[in-house]
Parts: sequence; structure tokens; C-alpha cells
Amino acid sequence: MIPQTFIQDLLSRVDIVDVVDRHVKLKRAGANFVACCPFHSEKTPSFTVSQTKQFYHCFGCGEHGTAIGFIMEYSGAGFIDAVKELAQSVGMTVPEEARSEQAARRAEEGDDLYGVLLRAAQFYRAQLRDAPHAIAYLKGRGLSGDIAKHFGVGYAPDGWQGLAAVFPDYDAKALLAAGLVKQNEEGRRYDVFRDRIIFPIVDVRGNVIGFGGRVLDKGEPKYLNSPETPVFEKGRELYGLYQARRAIRDAGRVIVVEGYMDVVALAQSGVDYAVATLGTATTPTHVQKLLRQTDEIVFCFDGDDAGRRAAWRALENSLGQLVDGKQLRFLFLPQGEDPDSYVRQQGKEAFEALFGKALPLSQFLLQELAKQSDLSAAEGRANLIHLAKPLLKQIQALGLRLQIVRALAEASRLAPDEVERLCELKSLARRSAPAQPHHNRAPMMSPDKQLLRLLLDQPRLAEKISDEYRLLLDSNPEYQPAAELVSILKNGKLTSAAALLEATRLSKHFELYEKALADTLNDMGDEQAADADLTGILTQLELRHVESEYKRLSAAGVRDDIERQRFLQVSRRLNELKGGTAAHPAASAPGA
Ligand code: UTP
Ligand code: MN
Repeated sequence: MIPQTFIQDLLSRVDIVDVVDRHVKLKRAGANFVACCPFHSEKTPSFTVSQTKQFYHCFGCGEHGTAIGFIMEYSGAGFIDAVKELAQSVGMTVPEEARSEQAARRAEEGDDLYGVLLRAAQFYRAQLRDAPHAIAYLKGRGLSGDIAKHFGVGYAPDGWQGLAAVFPDYDAKALLAAGLVKQNEEGRRYDVFRDRIIFPIVDVRGNVIGFGGRVLDKGEPKYLNSPETPVFEKGRELYGLYQARRAIRDAGRVIVVEGYMDVVALAQSGVDYAVATLGTATTPTHVQKLLRQTDEIVFCFDGDDAGRRAAWRALENSLGQLVDGKQLRFLFLPQGEDPDSYVRQQGKEAFEALFGKALPLSQFLLQELAKQSDLSAAEGRANLIHLAKPLLKQIQALGLRLQIVRALAEASRLAPDEVERLCELKSLARRSAPAQPHHNRAPMMSPDKQLLRLLLDQPRLAEKISDEYRLLLDSNPEYQPAAELVSILKNGKLTSAAALLEATRLSKHFELYEKALADTLNDMGDEQAADADLTGILTQLELRHVESEYKRLSAAGVRDDIERQRFLQVSRRLNELKGGTAAHPAASAPGA
């Protein structure tokens, strides 16, 4: 970790125009500089560098970034090396990383671990060739040599120190740290995996990070897994994801199964977009990782009680990750089957046909809760809502949440807003805010997106956003990217748009910011127009908010003086905003 202050300091001293020009000759073109793009082949220059923004963007291939990003892209350096290179070019030294000794040691071991694990994987693979009984086992399970190769399947021979053949220093610390050997009380070491089929576990970059080993015949445990190490964390990794990435994109979905063999057997049958959890429950991180790659997840579980329990855990851990427009479904196989046995007997088409029967998450949720509540009695219906509350509160996909609220309302004979209130959900009405008014000529971009772009174009404008407007931004998860930028800008002085961008490198919205900044490269940076734009955008944000408040209060009806006051306040503000008599929005309070 390099301190953020150093990054900021560095970016204020380097000029991206010099940095790029050292590698690619730039020509001035208006406010910007251009060249033929070094990242794709072209005859007319569409590679553009902005000196004011300290940012480059190619309008041809879409590559973009800061000076740091340029070095990373151009020379294939990692972030740290890119920073070091830039620092050197302006005579700065990267401060000795202030990381703890333990972290430093872990990082060192980590580097080592990848090498050790890779060598072990190669050893196991080579051993498979000389192990007829292991090959026969795999053949017996319907696997071809090609599929075995595709997954790097190997064999750990039946000896106590098989790995000594490829690790002359069998006592090396890294072997123990990688979980490949164990040590008995007398300090003698021995291989963890012996006489087992080996499934290497690979991270998304293709590094081997651990192994699963299956016994060939009967024996305990059936599967032995690598322990967690600095490079292997079970709750983050999915078996087969590296191999399936492409297929997942092509199929538009991923299927999550429970076992190594399920993934491999499915691929053997042509269902090559499956991944498996590693003997753990599906975690929020798993779901988040998968949803980044595709819009549909099908969880596939055994039809027995254990399968349903595992499915429920997966559901609970998915709720916070749901996004409208993405689908999660649950498929239960017939009793006694797993994906491996099913696809081997019935084939790819029959297996994929099951997807039609998979339960959407919403339905599975309602079904399970309804099972625990006697809906014919008032108590049971109340219990239904009671059980739903902690689950609903986690859902941030407001469209889906509303659908579930409606269904719950029906089942419990309540009104949807009564369900919302019982579950203490923040108003849903805010979300169904009306589209922008017709008289507004702004492009179809939503006001929060416009704000994002404006802030990246003119970071100084953040100063003009009042606390009330920050509260408004904070109140709506959809506005989170904009809210995050405002808070970064308000917290420190940043010298350029690129400096702002680098401050967000670790944010989950980094790519969004990068794109938004690229979109501004040809904007004219007219300061007065920008001020007016900010006013307009904030007014729109407030209008959205006040309109939905108005709707919500009108629908719910006014029951006491406080609510009446509030209603009056909201209607007055709505009139002002619509009639254009609003005070300067940056100075006035939106209906809180
Ligand atoms: P299963 O017991 O369902 O095995 O374990 P399977 O996938 O059907 O395997 P085959 O078909 O008999 O070869 C599912 C997953 O649970 C973990 C493994 O990750 C396995 O793939 N598991 C199972 C273990 O970690 N240890 C065990 O002893 C058993
Ligand atoms: Mn099985």
C-alpha cells in the first residue's frame, strides 16, 4: 500500500503530457493533445490526452486512464511499479511502505506460494500419466482426457514424500504454508495429498491457489481440501470460474453447483458455464463476483433437506447483492441426483430444460416463509411479515423488493405500504420517482449521472453542494457513486480530475468514474455554464425527491398535525420547484 497522500503529491508533479510524449509523440489539437493510439492500430489519431484533466482516452478503442494508468497499460507494469517509475521520473522516492511486518511477510510468502503451488500442480498432472488406475477411475466417471486437461486434473501418488521429487528443499517454509505438506510431532514432514485425484483450484487470474483431492475408492475423507492460506480464501473463490469465464459470458448465465465433479462432468457434457463453491456455503462475495460477470445465476442443489438448507443459506447471502435487472434462481434436482449423475444419464438438453423449473429467488423466499406460517390465522400472517422483515431489509434492489412486498401483502392480507411500515423499510415511493419533466432539454441521463460527470469535469463544484444536498444524495443508494465523489472532494484538495480518479482506485465505482471522466474529454469546461448546470441538476434531484415524498404522503393520507405540517411543507416546496420560484437550490433545504 502506497499512501494516498503520496499518490496525490506525485500526480500534482507529473504532467501526463510529458509522460505520454516520452513514449508516443503527441500533437496539440485544440485544448487537448492527440496521437495515433498505442493500444490499437489506427491511421488517424483518436488517442486524446487532456492536460487540464491529466487523463487520456482513445475514442477509437476506449482505453483510458491517468498517468499511472498509462504506464500500467503501456508497459504492463503493476500499480506499484508504475508509481515507482513515475516517481523516479520526477525525482521522488516512494516511501517505504508502512505496512506491518506481518503483512510484509505474508506478501513475501504469497509470492512464493504461487510458485510452489504451480509446481505442485504440474507434478500432479505429470503423475496422472503414469497412473493407470487413476486414469481408469476418471474414464469410469465419463471424463475424457481433454476435459481432464482443461481442468488440469492430476494425481497425487501413494507415497509419503512424493513432492520431494520436485522440491529438492522439502523442508522449505513455503511447502508448509501452501498446505502441501504436514509435519508430525517429531518434525518429520509428509505430503498432504496421497493417492488422490487432484483438482487444482485456480483464481481468476489463472494462478493455482489450492487443491481438492478425491479418494479413488472408498476412504475418508472423500475430499481433502487445501487449507486457507494467504492466497486461498474459500469464501471468495469458486472452483471452475477461471475455466468458465468465457462460457458464462456466452451463455448469459452461470450455474452454481456443490462439487468439483459436478463442474467437471457438466463441462464434459457441454454445460461449460458451471462453478462450484468449495465445500462452504455460498457467500455474498461469491454472489457479487458472479453478478459482475453475468445477469443470471442458477443455484443447483440436491432435492433433499440438506440441499434446501444450503439453498436457503445461498438465498440469505445473496439478498444484499441483488440488483434489479439480474436474476437469481434455485434449481432442485430430483431426490438422490446431483448434477454429475443427472447430466451423465440425461444429457445436456434435459439438464438445461430443468432451468425452466428453477424457482426465482422471490418465489423461493415466499415459499419457504409461507411453509413456516399458518396463513389461515391472523397470527400466522403476522409471523410471515415478522420472518420477512430481516430479509427484506437487506434487499437494495428496490424493484424486486417492491414485488416481494406486494406478494407478501397479498399473502398477509395487508396493504403494501403497511408491509413496508411493519418491516421498517425506507419508502419505496422515492424510487418510483417520475421521469424528468418534459421541458427539460438535458440529455436522457439521470440527474445523478449528470452530477457525476459534472464533478469529474469540474471538481471545484463540489464546494458548492450544500450539506442538505449531500444528505439527499446519501439517502438514495442509486446516488451512491455521486455521493462518494462529493465526499472525497470535500475531504481534501485534489489538483486535477486525474487526482480525483486515483483517489477512487479502490472504490467499486472506479470504472464508472473512469468512463464518466472519459466522456468529458471533449467538453468545453465553460465555468459559468457549469455553475448553471449544477444548479439545474440539484434542482432536478430535489424535484424527484419532493415529488415522490408528495406522492407517498398523498397516498398514505395525513393522520396528525405533524404529518399535515410535513405535507404542507412538501407541497409548497413542490410548487416552488415546479413554478421555478425556488431559491438557489444549493442554498436551500430539500424536504428532508
Ligand atoms: P459431495 O459429497 O456431494 O460429493 O460433496 P460429490 O461432489 O458428489 O463428489 P463425487 O461425485 O462423489 O465425487 C460436494 C462437495 O463438498 C466438498 C467438496 O468440495 C465436494 O466437491 N466435500 C465433500 C469435502 O470438502 N469433503 C468431503 O469429504 C466431501
Ligand atoms: Mn457426485
